[in-house]
Order: sequence, then structure tokens, then C-alpha cells
Amino acid sequence: MKGIILAGGAGTRLYPITLAVSKQLIPIGDKPMIYYPLSVLMLADVREILLIATPEDLPQFQRLLGDGAHLGLRIEYAEQARPGGLAEAFIIGADHIGTEPVVLVLGDNIFHGHRFSDVLAGHAGHVDGCVLFGYAVHDPQRYGVGEADPEGRLVSIEEKPVHPRSNRAITGLYFYDNDVVNIAKNITPSPRGELEISDVNRVYLERGKAQLVDLGRGFAWLDTGTPESLQEAAQYVSTLEHRQGIRIACVEEIALRMGFIDADACHALGKAIGKSDYGKYVMSIAREFHD
Ligand code: DAU
Repeated sequence: MKGIILAGGAGTRLYPITLAVSKQLIPIGDKPMIYYPLSVLMLADVREILLIATPEDLPQFQRLLGDGAHLGLRIEYAEQARPGGLAEAFIIGADHIGTEPVVLVLGDNIFHGHRFSDVLAGHAGHVDGCVLFGYAVHDPQRYGVGEADPEGRLVSIEEKPVHPRSNRAITGLYFYDNDVVNIAKNITPSPRGELEISDVNRVYLERGKAQLVDLGRGFAWLDTGTPESLQEAAQYVSTLEHRQGIRIACVEEIALRMGFIDADACHALGKAIGKSDYGKYVMSIAREFHD
């Protein structure tokens, strides 16, 4: 299964923060935002990843993540010159996807919850149709909104409806079979000229092949759309990290626990940034793992 992180867009709602830096590179807690969606793909055991960003921002992502080999990954990069819609990711990424299924995660989506890796493992690799993840929110009109039948089959989907039919927002994590490339190529752009992900999902719905998995209460899907929600997300992360003495979305730790790298390699990654608490944490995890 291949992975795509879509990290383009201009981040206009966060100006002036994002005038000179990509939204997906600004910090949430003590790490760049992109670590969170990257860790989702890693937990799903997806190691071949295409990162899509604007031509201006791409070099910064490359500087941060390189070819991914240090994390046991293969990260490639592609440009999206202008925001042509989320579904454009499958057209830009067609060669990367090849004949495999694919998981798309938005670069500004933060997920955290108990047994999330089990949820991901349950869907990774063998998807027939598409699997979407729903999350109850108080303001569904800001999102794609889905409704499912008791078996979890998606029965309706609307993008930012004025009168939502449910309170289930569709999160920015999507699993697809290989048909997604052809479907994306054949949908009609929105009046704004964007290829909407909800239109792709509607094709799967019409085929009876769209599943909506509820992430449930107690799970955190955090918003990063406004300066206030960014701060709330950072607070959530640092409260948990401080209280439990763990780190959320520490990509070096995940690489180690997933068996992508060994303890010595992990320790070396921590040491390279060892002046920071983050680096010290990575070294301590590597030592613990060694013993
Ligand atoms: O976050 C989940 C929501 O994401 C879903 O519920 C919606 O169905 C989906 O359309 C999307 O809604 P947003 O309003 O968040 O979409 P936005 O245009 O803000 O794009 C989401 C992220 O993707 C954002 O960080 C910018 C990036 N992006 C967006 C577009 C349109 C790109 O990289 N390229 C694009 O062409």
C-alpha cells in the first residue's frame, strides 16, 4: 500500500503565520505539524510515501525529511502548483501509486487515540473500495459530512452542507483501492476549479463500496484551521505528553517500534538533535528498547 501526504495550500486563514512558512511545518508542541500525519502513515505500516506541496514549500519539507531512509521509509516529493483540490493528489501521485491501493492523509490533520494503530492495521493493505473515518463534531457544516447505515456503509456524503444530515465529519484520512486514480481523473471540477474528494467518495458510495468507520468518543481529531485551534491542539499534545511522559507523533520512536530501524539507528537520530528535549527523549527510548 502506498501513502500520500497532501501538504499544499496557502494557509491563508493563518496569515501572517503562514506568509513565509508552510502551514504544515509550523510547530504543534515541540515538533512540526507534518510529523503527525507522517506518523499516521507509519503506524499503518505504509513506508513508501509521496509528499505533495507547493513548489515554494517543497525544499523545506525535503530539508526536514530527506529521502526518509533514516526512518526506514522511502519519501518522494511532488509539486502542486496551485490548490487544485484534494483529489488532485491521485492524479499527481498516479505513478507513485502504480497498481497498489493508497492511503491519503492531509498534512494538517492530527489524530490521537487509544489503539489507533489497531484501527489502521485493520484497514491497511486490503481495502476494497474506500474506507473513510468519521468523527462527531459540533460544527459539521465546516467539513465533509457522512452518514452511515448500521453496517457502517456510507449512505450519504456532502461537502460543507448548510444543513448537515449528521454530525459526522469526514476526517482527512482516506484509504482507497487502486480505482481511485481513474475515478479522480474522471470527476468534474467544482465551480472553483477544484477536484473535490467528496466527489470521489460519492462514486464509491454509488458503487456500494464506501465504508465509514466511526473514530468514537475518547478519540482526538484536532483542528488546526485557526490560530485558536492551533493553540488548543498544541495544548492537548503538551498536556498529554507532560502528564504521561510520552511523546505523540515522535517519528523516530514509531520507526523503532514498527521495526523500520533498530535501536542503534534510533539512538543516533536522537543524538544528532540531542540538545533538545525531543532529541533526549528519542535517545532514552532507544536505550530502553535496547535493554
Ligand atoms: O480536514 C478534513 C476536511 O478536509 C474534510 O472534512 C473535507 O471533506 C475536505 O474537503 C477537507 O476540507 P478543508 O476545508 O479542510 O479543505 P482545505 O481546502 O482547507 O484543504 C485541507 C488541507 O489540504 C489544507 O491544509 C490545504 C491542503 N490542500 C488543499 C487543497 C484544496 C492542498 O494541499 N491542496 C489543495 O488543492
